[in-house]
Amino acid sequence: MHNIRGPCFLMFFILFPAKVASLENGLARTPPMGWMSWGYYMCGDTCDTNPGRCLNENLILSVADTFYNEGYQEAGFEYIIIDDCWSEKRRDANGRLVANKERFPRGMKFLADYIHARGMKFGMYTNIAEVTCMHYPGSKNFFKLDAQTFADWGVDYLKVDGCFIKEESFLNTAYIELGRYLNKTGRPIVYSCSWPYYLKYIHNKHVNYSPIAKHCNLWRNFHDVSLEWPAVVNIIKHYADQYPKLVSHHGPGHWNDPDMLILGTGELTQSQTRVQLAVYAMMSAPLLLSCDIKHITPYEKELLLNLDLIAIAQDPLGIMATPVAITDLVIMYVKKHLPMKGDKIHSYSFALVNLDKFKRRMSFKAEDYGLNSVDGYTVMDVFSKVYFRNVTVSDLIVADVPPDDVVLYTLFPL
Ligand code: GLA
Repeated sequence: MHNIRGPCFLMFFILFPAKVASLENGLARTPPMGWMSWGYYMCGDTCDTNPGRCLNENLILSVADTFYNEGYQEAGFEYIIIDDCWSEKRRDANGRLVANKERFPRGMKFLADYIHARGMKFGMYTNIAEVTCMHYPGSKNFFKLDAQTFADWGVDYLKVDGCFIKEESFLNTAYIELGRYLNKTGRPIVYSCSWPYYLKYIHNKHVNYSPIAKHCNLWRNFHDVSLEWPAVVNIIKHYADQYPKLVSHHGPGHWNDPDMLILGTGELTQSQTRVQLAVYAMMSAPLLLSCDIKHITPYEKELLLNLDLIAIAQDPLGIMATPVAITDLVIMYVKKHLPMKGDKIHSYSFALVNLDKFKRRMSFKAEDYGLNSVDGYTVMDVFSKVYFRNVTVSDLIVADVPPDDVVLYTLFPL
């Protein structure tokens, strides 16, 4: 994590997040939002012995129904993504992947049609090797056919894992090759790559993000989230630490992916839920839930449907907030976003995050972070939606932040 090395250093990142060439399939102009099976259901293929964690057609239909009927789709949650363990163990006589006949009796096209009819999008999973991480058929040697199969089924998002690859050079060519086949199908398919994760953590290689951002819409950089708060803290600390390396590759069409949100699993307190959502929103990270959708609490639902929070997460500029480290557990994130006053004066959000065991008093002055509206700003508390104060750029804004909690303010120019 970078400590304050003087205002110039910080201002550089806040004002000029660098741009690099991106995959121009026109997709994922804002970070994808939706639901993904793995975090909570994991493989989900032992339905007889573990019916509460069964990955099957009914599960996907119930997510689609809940998103559609309860306001999630309107808030922007649109991708419903089936992770590993969805197929038969063998391809068919033509070499095609086949949906598991017991768990997905009507096949994947049926699910895609059901989801599309409700104005949402359908995602699936494969691996770049012969088998997936859970030993279901993978796509190696079948890139062209599998790309066409996914397109024929109406898939809109493909997560491509990278387990079991011996040669790192294969990762560097295979992700590009599979991406080309996806493009050649002519179907718009968001391309999620786990390429950098495997380069760094399995092959111990330095990651060059330029080709990754050029060929993928989003990519996993770090370990899987598990269903516990310390995993979320590790993710937050990792991305704050790696921010200088990641920021220039992050933006519309190409996103760093810190893995799924774990609210709705019963594992987080209300304040921890606020922290994970606020940090992801500030990072312009994908917002992919992984939980039993029926167990989302009324409070969690209120957070997920907080359109002021979603506006930060889905801001069209897609800037990854600058983490200003106070300590490694106390971090203030600063994010420039829309709306603008005229064509020069942006709105900004500040997230004051306290992962420490004790209450922390945190404060900032707008002028120290590039805010320049001579007429000042009106400050909204994003969680309570209260506009509680107008400030000039030199006013000190102070908040007491309890342990494992966040205060999130948006400053709109007056
Ligand atoms: C890897 C990925 C996870 C999930 C599993 C499936 O661990 O990082 O997100 O897709 O494989 O086996």
